[in-house]
Amino acid sequence: MWPYPRIVAHRGGGTLAPENTIAAMRCGLDHGFRAVEFDVMLAKDGVPVVMHDPQLGRTVAGEGSIADFTAQELAARDAGIWFGPEFEGEPVPTYEQVARFCMQHGIWMNVEIKPVPGHEEQTGWSVAQATWRLFAGQPDHRAAALPLLSSFSFAALEAARFAAAEIPRGLLIDEVPADWHAQLRQLGAISLHVNHRRLTPVLARAVKEAGFGLFCYTVNDPVRARQLLEWGVDGFCTDRIDLIGAQFAGSVV
Ligand code: G3P
Ligand code: MG
Repeated sequence: MWPYPRIVAHRGGGTLAPENTIAAMRCGLDHGFRAVEFDVMLAKDGVPVVMHDPQLGRTVAGEGSIADFTAQELAARDAGIWFGPEFEGEPVPTYEQVARFCMQHGIWMNVEIKPVPGHEEQTGWSVAQATWRLFAGQPDHRAAALPLLSSFSFAALEAARFAAAEIPRGLLIDEVPADWHAQLRQLGAISLHVNHRRLTPVLARAVKEAGFGLFCYTVNDPVRARQLLEWGVDGFCTDRIDLIGAQFAGSVV
């Protein structure tokens, strides 16, 4: 059973807000979403921050690796202006800031561990530890309330398991390898997160029959979304939060 929401706002607010910012989380919330995916990596001082690219340049002006700036230095940079003047001054948030916003508003989190290359183990460890610290004191200890950590990095997920085995993990994969089942078992992962373009009905059935959750990224066409749900996909993230509403799954399954 998939205990999580089926439709997840990608990077907070999909195409409607600057990715991976608090403004994006608020945008997803305003569009009725109660589930978000966002990306986390470590700043120079080891603080988990919410960023997609491992370097400055695309969403935050400047040059250099995220691992060369402290969280405070990143917070002083503008992660909103590239998207539109109305978002000027939106900072690079820490994981803790985004998580607290989500927890306060009842938003479920799929936290993608996205290490700066070379920092895989440390990032997996730190994000899992930070997640555990955030949730350990919470009155709601239901498994469904915990975030789902996912990553393309096997090493990061292994480290996350050692750091906080209680926080569930999912393996992100583009080209699905023949040994996907063994990899999930080795990680103690609960779910496989696949590029929807690589998914076939046969693979979807195999994943479900093996007892794992099946999540797809990033699904922006409502027709395709419907097809994937019919194939047995448990959930997916979308950039088109305007086209594929949070209630979409309820209208299909
Ligand atoms: O977590 C699913 C999806 O976000 C993976 O790709 O590059 O958008 O982080 P990316
Ligand atoms: Mg991501």
